[in-house]
Amino acid sequence: MCGIVGYFGKRKAAEILVDGLRRMEYRGYDSAGVACLFDTRIDVVKTPGKIKDLRARVDAADSVAMREAVQGIGHTRWATHGPPNEINAHPHLDASGRFALVHNGIIENYKEIKSGLAQHGIQCVSDTDTEVLVQLVAYCYQGSLERAVSEALKKVKGTYGIVVMSDHEPGKLVTARCGSPIVIGIGKDETIIASDASAIIPHTRDAVYLEDYDMAVVTSGGVEMFDLQHAPVNREVTAMDWDEDAAEKGEYAHFMLKEMFEQPDAIRNAIRGRLDFEMGTAILSGLDFSPRDAAMISRVLVVGCGTSMHAGMVGEYAFEELAGIPSEVEQAAEFRYRNPIITPTDLVLAISQSGETADTLAAVREAKHKGAVVAGICNVVGSTIARETGRGVYLHAGPEIGVASTKAFTCQVAVMLMMALKVARTRRLARHDGEELCRWIDRLPELAEAVLRQNDAIKAVAKKYARCDNAFFIGRGYLFPVALEGALKLKEISYIHAEGYHAAELKHGPIALLEEKTPVVALLNNVPGKDKTLGNAEECKARKAPVIAVVSAGDEGVADGFDDVIVVPDCPACIAPVPTAIALQLLAYHVAAERGCEIDQPRNLAKSVTVE
Ligand code: F6R
Repeated sequence: MCGIVGYFGKRKAAEILVDGLRRMEYRGYDSAGVACLFDTRIDVVKTPGKIKDLRARVDAADSVAMREAVQGIGHTRWATHGPPNEINAHPHLDASGRFALVHNGIIENYKEIKSGLAQHGIQCVSDTDTEVLVQLVAYCYQGSLERAVSEALKKVKGTYGIVVMSDHEPGKLVTARCGSPIVIGIGKDETIIASDASAIIPHTRDAVYLEDYDMAVVTSGGVEMFDLQHAPVNREVTAMDWDEDAAEKGEYAHFMLKEMFEQPDAIRNAIRGRLDFEMGTAILSGLDFSPRDAAMISRVLVVGCGTSMHAGMVGEYAFEELAGIPSEVEQAAEFRYRNPIITPTDLVLAISQSGETADTLAAVREAKHKGAVVAGICNVVGSTIARETGRGVYLHAGPEIGVASTKAFTCQVAVMLMMALKVARTRRLARHDGEELCRWIDRLPELAEAVLRQNDAIKAVAKKYARCDNAFFIGRGYLFPVALEGALKLKEISYIHAEGYHAAELKHGPIALLEEKTPVVALLNNVPGKDKTLGNAEECKARKAPVIAVVSAGDEGVADGFDDVIVVPDCPACIAPVPTAIALQLLAYHVAAERGCEIDQPRNLAKSVTVE
């Protein structure tokens, strides 16, 4: 979703802002802009389209501010209110042109504020909710920018991460957050504000994360933080541990390809130091559970969205099978609004790569409110869900830049298995069974490597089906969520209409859609349920649908009579989602590449969905 960057220091602001926006491109956007303040003048350059278009416009601008300013703000916009055109792009100026603001989030009462401003003769020129906010800040201004911002924010309903500057007070940036992340990077003689650590990492590793209703004022004297009532607040400076190279594509054609190939290492990092072979359990210190706490859990509820929810479904099966604990997965938006019944012995797991997904965050707040024990499974260190849950397990997968989640999914599954193992060992799972599971979890990186070696074979299958319009994925048990995930990967990056179904469900309606040009990917791994899915795949074949059989090594005979085969390593059912999902990621990637799609930034999608 939208990206924010702000800079104040000694270097040329425009360059740093545009580069910061480039580093946040992966979040998804459709227009971009920067505003620079030099002397007592704010100049703005904006454009629909890509950062390269913005860069060209900045370079061509007849503006001293764009060349010389050491202070500015920038934004990539993912359109919500109004189409992605130049007028609606941020930064927005007030009517006098003396205040500039960038905003992530949604101002829900913007219409009400807009008509209030109109009564004072202030007219907005864009369709956005954001412009209303900058006009309101200007209206509230009485000599102090931070006071004007806090006054304006007190009138606002909704979510925001903002950075504001004014030529009344050069040398000052004001930032604030409620629901949309703001990170402040503290460098030597410079400060970089961003919605995402990736824009800060090239400049400094020291960062402060604002909390909801925090404001910060950045001047040459440093950073001061307040709440909206201007009472000082203290937020710790933390060191960001992400490697700058991790956010570059290197030799790979796409981030998605790079991230798929990083999976063996990413999983190694996710499980490093967390398996206790001797006791046949997992060591997850961030969960902060004694065996007694774990034994008290009566139910596990997993909340998340999209790919993360699919990983949660694998967790659901593992908690029930291994630990014998009733477990459910729920789409986070549904959970937050349906007044869920929660008891104090429920464990609610919030699963989110970014740690910023609006619905998952709201589900966390609802669950905490109802007294559940809440833990997070996040990749982004210091993200809002990680901080608000206060306990949980980081994936340590490294930055995931491709919009289509890949390495986060497999690491989420690895973490879910370790969580289930830990809880299971306080219950019915015997030590030797725990040891056996530890050995299999430890082999996940090797299994991932084995699938990645099949890249060329999978590419050949992908080429055959790249021109189809529809596809189905079927599986059961632990492979049902993998079927859903395989379909999601294919549809989001190749724009082929794909549906994931429980293999048994196909007959209850969707089979009507099968015909010669609709391939069915059947997950026929050698795990319980294989024979039943095999029967379902035969039914598809009988309706002339081509079947791509995913089978376990050593069990290739299962694919006889089907059209194509993808071989994945033989492993127990709870382990199978990892290698199988990697095979389906590769399939989706090569289909999308063959169709010439924009793989890292699929149309209409955003990496981090911070609005509901
Ligand atoms: C699909 C994908 C999305 C995300 C979903 C949740 O490839 O990436 O479905 O999984 O938007 O995002 P997080 O995990 O950041 O909460």
